[in-house]
Amino acid sequence: MNRATVATAYQTLVAEGLASAHVGQGTFVARRDGGSLAPPPAEPFLDWDGHSSRAARRLVADTRRRSSFDLLARARPGLISFAGAMPDASLFPTDAFRQVLNRVIKREGAALLQYHAVSGYPPLKRFLMGWLLRHGIEATEDEILIVNGSQQGLDLIVRILLDPGDPVAIEQPTYPGALQTLEAFQAQLLTVPVGEAGLRPEPLARLLDQHRPKLLYCQPTAQTPTGLSIPQEARLELMALAARRRLPVVEDGFGGPSYQETPPPPLKALDPHGLVIHLGSLSKILFPGLRLGWIVASRPVMERLLALKQLSDLHTSALLQAAVFQFCQRRLLERHTRVVRAEYARRRAALLAALGRHMPAGTSWTVPDGGFSLLVTLPGRVDTDALLPEAVERGVAYTPGAFFFADGRGASTLRLSFSGIPAPRIEEGVRRLAETARPALRRRAPRAVGERSELPLV
Ligand SMILES: Cc1ncc(COP(=O)(O)O)c(C=O)c1O
Repeated sequence: MNRATVATAYQTLVAEGLASAHVGQGTFVARRDGGSLAPPPAEPFLDWDGHSSRAARRLVADTRRRSSFDLLARARPGLISFAGAMPDASLFPTDAFRQVLNRVIKREGAALLQYHAVSGYPPLKRFLMGWLLRHGIEATEDEILIVNGSQQGLDLIVRILLDPGDPVAIEQPTYPGALQTLEAFQAQLLTVPVGEAGLRPEPLARLLDQHRPKLLYCQPTAQTPTGLSIPQEARLELMALAARRRLPVVEDGFGGPSYQETPPPPLKALDPHGLVIHLGSLSKILFPGLRLGWIVASRPVMERLLALKQLSDLHTSALLQAAVFQFCQRRLLERHTRVVRAEYARRRAALLAALGRHMPAGTSWTVPDGGFSLLVTLPGRVDTDALLPEAVERGVAYTPGAFFFADGRGASTLRLSFSGIPAPRIEEGVRRLAETARPALRRRAPRAVGERSELPLV
């Protein structure tokens, strides 16, 4: 830009009273009373921390901890990062999506850019009815609500069902976003340990003998962080238990790739009583940036969800819903799913093989049935959170396991996500991880004989 243009812009701002110029100092944004803005005071005018809700204080402390970890990991070139379970953006079908987006704008642009129905774009909902049916879920159009990702779905569900202090049963370990959402609503968290095959009915039954949780939040398929899926038998038992105890079940369906020949049906498909509130999302299999997910729930639940969704943001973008509908109708989602499943399966296999080759004796890990990650348990009293800077120093990152535990356990566990790393790099990443873990294990006392790790060994 020409210097004269900039000078004219400054003169105009000064003439309009929006800036004030001081010879030898520069030009400053003007204060309303005519003086220039003073530099911000060292101490904030109000102690916003003291002024925040307890829930917000906890949330912010947790978020700061996570972002310090992100900064640490981002700062290193050549880092192999197993942190952050996201789809690989280099596999995104961006061009195909651009084409369907152009097409819907051309055909229905004005209507799609108007305010829209709160429950979702009807053609997409009808498409979903067929898609859900193929997974065993029979839902009518008015039992489906389109939301901005399953995270918003979870937030809405928690808001309509919980009052502060209400007890909620959750798997441990579990998805940190669910922990944070529940904690923000001041839920009392009751944990059920995840076994070798995911959530088991027996410990849940024992918990239900002692407590009366208002709901169970679980991920029966491709659980985060373990990748485990509950087998069919246990699903039937869980649903029988939920029916006996009249326990609402929030099923976070994930929607990522499955590595099973015949994945078991979702809990919603085994629910004749309308107890299950099912969450689905396109984030893992297509684009997380779309923020597109859905809730399947019985009508009384849906009535409440619709009222709250309306209050929250009126509706999810109709333009994006229409583009996704076009994408799905042209069978592009099916094709894309096949391609990415094969690639993620290669990365999963590479990770499992490398762990077997390199990790110190006594290390165990879950074998994921689906999804993007698995959970490793180191054999000694190692704090993987404290070990992370050392790992990053050696060029590898992971997510410390404690993030996935509600009660401070999981210190010796860590989550490895394989979705973002091409198979040939995975071996090197695991070699670096093993190199970090080995000396740390020697420094720390081993577990006492008979003492169990948080997760059964696999
Ligand atoms: C188990 C689980 N539930 C929900 C979400 C949120 O996903 P979405 O992008 O659909 O909001 C995630 C994201 O990682 C997840 O792992």
